[in-house]
Amino acid sequence: MSSSVESDLLNKQWKTFLFPTMIKSSDLLTLFLKVGLAISTIFLITHFFYLSLTYNQPQQNYDQIAFKQMFQLRSPKTLNIESVEEPTNISHILFGIGGSTSTWHTRRYYSELWWQPNTTRGFVWLDKEPPKNETWPETSPSFKVSGDTSSFKYTCWYGSRSAIRIARIIKESFELGLDNVRWFVMGDDDTVFFTHNLVTVLSKYDHNQMYYIGGNSESVEQDVIHFYTMAYGGGGFAISYPLAAELVKILDGCIDRYSDFYGSDQKIQSCISEIGVQITKEPGFHQVDIRGNPYGLLAAHPVAPLVSLHHLDYVDPIFPNMTRVDSVKKLITAYESDPGRTVQQSFCYDHTRNWSVSVSWGYSAELFPFLPTAKDLEMASKTFKTWRTWSDGPFTFNTRAVKNDPCENSLTYFMDRVDDLGRGLTRSSYKRYNDVTWKDCERSDFAPALAVQYINVSAPLLMPHTWKEAPRRQCCEIINHGDGDNKVIEVHIRGCHRFESVSPR
Ligand SMILES: *[C@@H]1O[C@H](CO)[C@@H](O)[C@H](O)[C@H]1NC(C)=O
Ligand SMILES: *[C@@H]1O[C@H](CO)[C@@H](O)[C@H](O)[C@H]1NC(C)=O
Ligand SMILES: *[C@@H]1O[C@H](CO)[C@@H](O)[C@H](O)[C@H]1NC(C)=O
Ligand SMILES: *[C@@H]1O[C@H](CO)[C@@H](O)[C@H](O)[C@H]1NC(C)=O
Ligand SMILES: *[C@@H]1O[C@H](CO)[C@@H](O)[C@H](O)[C@H]1NC(C)=O
Ligand SMILES: *[C@@H]1O[C@H](CO)[C@@H](O)[C@H](O)[C@H]1NC(C)=O
Repeated sequence: MSSSVESDLLNKQWKTFLFPTMIKSSDLLTLFLKVGLAISTIFLITHFFYLSLTYNQPQQNYDQIAFKQMFQLRSPKTLNIESVEEPTNISHILFGIGGSTSTWHTRRYYSELWWQPNTTRGFVWLDKEPPKNETWPETSPSFKVSGDTSSFKYTCWYGSRSAIRIARIIKESFELGLDNVRWFVMGDDDTVFFTHNLVTVLSKYDHNQMYYIGGNSESVEQDVIHFYTMAYGGGGFAISYPLAAELVKILDGCIDRYSDFYGSDQKIQSCISEIGVQITKEPGFHQVDIRGNPYGLLAAHPVAPLVSLHHLDYVDPIFPNMTRVDSVKKLITAYESDPGRTVQQSFCYDHTRNWSVSVSWGYSAELFPFLPTAKDLEMASKTFKTWRTWSDGPFTFNTRAVKNDPCENSLTYFMDRVDDLGRGLTRSSYKRYNDVTWKDCERSDFAPALAVQYINVSAPLLMPHTWKEAPRRQCCEIINHGDGDNKVIEVHIRGCHRFESVSPR
């Protein structure tokens, strides 16, 4: 900023100096004075900028040095421990899942999709002991029975008292006093966590500080009622150990103070607001407060690791023509091959045919027999409604309307399979999906696109350290430009080159 302002100023000075409109002999003295004035102005301006630039730097350094000295004098040991501390892994997370005895047998399938006995740590918290004659499934997380909450106040007329019990899971988990816990992660019994990515996201943050990490609702109407400052409980949220330590001291009081708030997540956020800690929003946590088909959301995921999905019983199955649980299992097969790349979007143009391909890795692909802008391609297509009122919006992200004219829409492909090619490479294929209710575009220039049955994609594994860098969408290129097999488009996804952009030619 300042350097362009600076050069503008200099240019103006130079213009009046080099191209005076007319030079009369009587004006020579004035010109001489003007020249002198201009030179000294330039000198002053450059000097001023030079000073202002150099002034800040040593100042910062002094501050940093002074701060470090202070810190070292006070707690040299903390520094040493921190420098040898291992990166955060799955064992450092203690999960607390809000469950209930009567619904666990139907809900457990979602938890069991991601729970790894003997690896993931934590408990599902129940309202009462399960029946003695029923054995607790080995594939489920172990359970604990929550403490009695009958003495707490709950005054939200449209809500359920169970919110108190669920809010207290963080406290009851903390009070177990388990070893080596850096993060407490809360979720519902219908939350699906993608734990590799959860670890990737949490390891970006210093667990020795007070962090509250999660995401908002997708539906603005929900955020207006339940706050934008809140991490939604169904999408799951993470609380670092030091914040948990402070939170549990005041939580029971908060539960009574905020007795008129509907949800457990609201009560927790209200309590955290008394501490003053702010939410750190991570776009991979998904409350999935939408109705209808979540396709658009998953086909244009933000550039961030997929951490969680929730409410999957309330939306269409994520893959068509499958049960809900099976459709999530299918996504997990891709996730297991390359967690970091799951639902990461890449798109590129085929300039020889004026086509565009967008891939949401491991989930879907789209073929546009035309060239939408990158802005259009990165926007979620609105295949869903809002949560509470089933309205057309607004959402907390921009959407593009699904057009009525099939000639203006893309062709859709769903992930068929993902193969590990070894050497850190995968090949995934996406198969054309024909919705019987949908009429194909009959224009003749669409015919070659309609012939494409598969989009096959090769890609390197997306390593966790990528997420420590500034987020950038990965690039892709179309390998076969209409030569050879016209039924398959081959795409290669890779990191972008320098000066590479998705710009029409
Ligand atoms: C996680 O790190 C801890 C050290 O803090 C180590 O003891 C443990 O074995 C690690 N767990 C896994 C699953 O890597
Ligand atoms: C978990 O650990 C226990 C005790 O070490 C063992 O008996 C059990 O088979 C393990 N379960 C799995 C799924 O690895
Ligand atoms: C357990 O006992 C209850 C009532 O005593 C009964 O309704 C239920 O079917 C029993 N469950 C099993 C698995 O036997
Ligand atoms: C849906 O699945 C059934 C059974 O797996 C299959 O026969 C049918 O062709 C599928 N329908 C579509 C539209 O893919
Ligand atoms: C692609 O679009 C450009 C610009 O509109 C046009 O000049 C060119 O002829 C098109 N090529 C094909 C193969 O349609
Ligand atoms: C594309 O993927 C499909 C399904 O996995 C496979 O049958 C086909 O051989 C692949 N084609 C190419 C050219 O890789």
